[in-house]
Amino acid sequence: MKIHPSAAILSLLCLSFGGFSQAENNEPVVEINNESFQCVQDMTPVRGFFVDNLLGNLEETLSVANSADGGSYPAGSVVQLVPSEIMVKRAPGVSPDTNDWEFFIMDTTTTASKILTRGFADVVNRFGGNCLSCHAKAEPKWDMVCESTHGCDPIPLTRDILTLLQKTDLRCEDMPPLSAEEQEKLAALQQMMQAQN
Ligand code: HEC
Repeated sequence: MKIHPSAAILSLLCLSFGGFSQAENNEPVVEINNESFQCVQDMTPVRGFFVDNLLGNLEETLSVANSADGGSYPAGSVVQLVPSEIMVKRAPGVSPDTNDWEFFIMDTTTTASKILTRGFADVVNRFGGNCLSCHAKAEPKWDMVCESTHGCDPIPLTRDILTLLQKTDLRCEDMPPLSAEEQEKLAALQQMMQAQN
């Protein structure tokens, strides 16, 4: 096949300025911006939390999430419990301290995904809790995923409240309205959170 010289130059330019998803060492690059995240209900549910994979490797993410023996989540894995906090598995070696997890705090007051804070060992939630300090307490085989039984300090939210918060993700379209009882619970929760501020 004859390649037009300008096409060859163009591909050389592309090669030198990026545009491919493998780093020099052949590790996958996980690019993350506001568009990487979506309505929590559109992700894949696993017990109480939701997962996705930004590199299209959902199968492996699910196989670790569903394994009785735990395992290491593959690069690109997104894990979300409530709309405000997300963990994403970056490429191997990016952050050994956090098992390559990056922690995100999201703005929950908009209908678009908006990252408020992101980082590794130093991300702290609005109650002063450092993500890593809790998540690192999970037994090693769970790769810093806490659930309620993996050894992390507990969070003060019941399963009921967690499910309710998952229903209040403003990014989700066509969500059924909350029942009167759910609205009451939410109002009580908001009051409790304000009292702690
Ligand atoms: C007080 C300890 C603590 C802190 C601080 C904390 N978490 Fe968690 N996190 C937990 C526990 C415990 C669970 C599991 C709750 C459940 O399923 O009942 C959890 C669940 C999660 C999950 C769902 C997957 C899992 O591990 O079960 C994500 C994602 C998450 N947290 C992200 C964050 C982020 C991001 C931060 C910081 C902004 C953070 N967490 C801060 C204890 C904590």
